[in-house]
Amino acid sequence: MNLSGILVSLTVLGAACAHPVTVSETPGSAVPADGEPTLARLAGARHFDLGAAVQGGALLGDSAYANAVVRDFTMVSTENAFKFGPLRPSPGRYDFTETDAIVRFAETHGLRVRGHTLVWKRQLPEWLTRGTYMRNELITILREHIQTVVGRYRGRVVAWDVVNEALKDSVGPEDEVLRPTIWLKGIGPEYIDLAFHFAHEADPGALLFYNEAGAEGMGTKSDAVYALVWRLRRRGVPVHGVGLQMHTGLGASPDTAALGANLRRLAALGLQVQITEMDVGTAKMPGSQADILAAQADVYRQVLATCLSVPACTALVTWGVGDRYTWRYPDTPLLLDREFQPKPAHAALLEVLRAASPGSAPR
Ligand code: G3I
Repeated sequence: MNLSGILVSLTVLGAACAHPVTVSETPGSAVPADGEPTLARLAGARHFDLGAAVQGGALLGDSAYANAVVRDFTMVSTENAFKFGPLRPSPGRYDFTETDAIVRFAETHGLRVRGHTLVWKRQLPEWLTRGTYMRNELITILREHIQTVVGRYRGRVVAWDVVNEALKDSVGPEDEVLRPTIWLKGIGPEYIDLAFHFAHEADPGALLFYNEAGAEGMGTKSDAVYALVWRLRRRGVPVHGVGLQMHTGLGASPDTAALGANLRRLAALGLQVQITEMDVGTAKMPGSQADILAAQADVYRQVLATCLSVPACTALVTWGVGDRYTWRYPDTPLLLDREFQPKPAHAALLEVLRAASPGSAPR
């Protein structure tokens, strides 16, 4: 896309909502009137990242959204912008409009960036899903994509979800655990190794994560994740961490003892672990609104406290900034409400981070 095209697209992206965005300066500087420190400042003092998945249009067009990002978070993840389809609408064309906007916003406000995600089964462009490719052609497509994208943001994106959800939704001990995606069928299981090697070649300084859903506690799926990354490491594949998504709800909140055990066994492999997509659904839960919000806050409190208890757990990212833009709409699973005002879950994280503030051992 030529420059005028980018400028037009940025204008379009920015015009998602009309108001010009005015945000405060650096994260943590937006100290509320009562002088209490923000989530960002408390997390930063703990050398911990508290993040949110962002959408470029809202970031540039919704000042309340942008201010909340700068006030409360030290990291942004990209909800959709770095996925294959949005980035690569045709074989020879990359559209970096939204990713450039998000990375530039993050750099302006001193936020770290997680790139989600390079290799997945969903949001693939039709030219890829409808095409027929020989194995070496698909490997070339994979390599060119990863090295173009990661190379463009070398030194600017601190961590990548290189491969996302490569395992079947549910796996038994003897099952073939890998999800039959275009990548597995076209290349074979070594597509995972290749993706990590390509990303590492493009940015040797970036942290490379394997990201998975439904593998937070102890069970056959988290066992399969553990076995996968153990084998990758044994083969010398540059995988540096595991992302545990943590999409949960009040009806099925995580067993934090099992989460802690899983975090510790992954850490024992020399890996970082990050909670990468946390949201806590409240839909259809009985009880008063106050009781529901308190129960939601307790799930966030327990997950963050469990993560902070394991030094290798270095970030908690919520899958969205506020309930106005959540993918689970009309559910209200996030820390901030639809007006980006803090909910009891926000206060719960402040409480946990305050208890773990600078006096605690650095991470
Ligand atoms: O951008 C197009 C727009 O041009 C079009 O008009 C519109 C209607 O068709 O679709 C828009 O794309 C949508 C995209 O979100 C951006 O809004 C896709 O249809 C929609 O499928 C996509 O949903 C995303 C979903 O992943 C599928 O990729 C959600 O926003 C996103 O929150 C969700 O995130 C995933 C993580 O990547 C992986 N872990 C699970 C998590 C939740 O499913």
